[in-house]
Amino acid sequence: MSTHNTLTPPPSDWWRHPIGRDEVLWISVAAAWCVIMTFMMVYWYFAGNQNQAGEAYRISAEAFEAKADAMVDQYTIRTETELEVPVVAVPPGGDVYIVASQFQWNVIPELKLGETYRFHLSSVDVNHGFSLQPINVNLQLVPGYDYVLNFTPNAVGEYNIVCNEYCGLAHHTMVGRLYVVE
Ligand code: CUA
Repeated sequence: MSTHNTLTPPPSDWWRHPIGRDEVLWISVAAAWCVIMTFMMVYWYFAGNQNQAGEAYRISAEAFEAKADAMVDQYTIRTETELEVPVVAVPPGGDVYIVASQFQWNVIPELKLGETYRFHLSSVDVNHGFSLQPINVNLQLVPGYDYVLNFTPNAVGEYNIVCNEYCGLAHHTMVGRLYVVE
């Protein structure tokens, strides 16, 4: 069997040779693009209405869970699935506590169309991701922080909450739900 190698190895003193023009061109394009995208992050915050303000507070897992439990006690309207996940209907303007843990979401929020809610998102164990499908909402949930998100749903429907941060063996099963009703 022939092991003929068609690739020419670089000269053993390759660092002494001048850089090729193509390479200079591509490095320049990539570097310029990095600079442009860095400024675009700031631009999109104001013009694109895409990025969150990043309001976050320190909180212990126990304190956050206590607030979430109080919400569940007060606003549960029914339960769903064989796991009996509480569906909570927090009044418009109210605080919705979303607790991520291995490997579930604490509640199924039911929201009213066009009303604004104050979402609080946190994890009580490891890093999780909060991704609302099929919309482009994507946040990282870090234990010890209450991440606040002002949320105004503008379309009726059933949405999926997907964990998009690898959090352990059953990460792929960590799917929740969110309803927006008239
Ligand atoms: Cu939670 Cu992946």
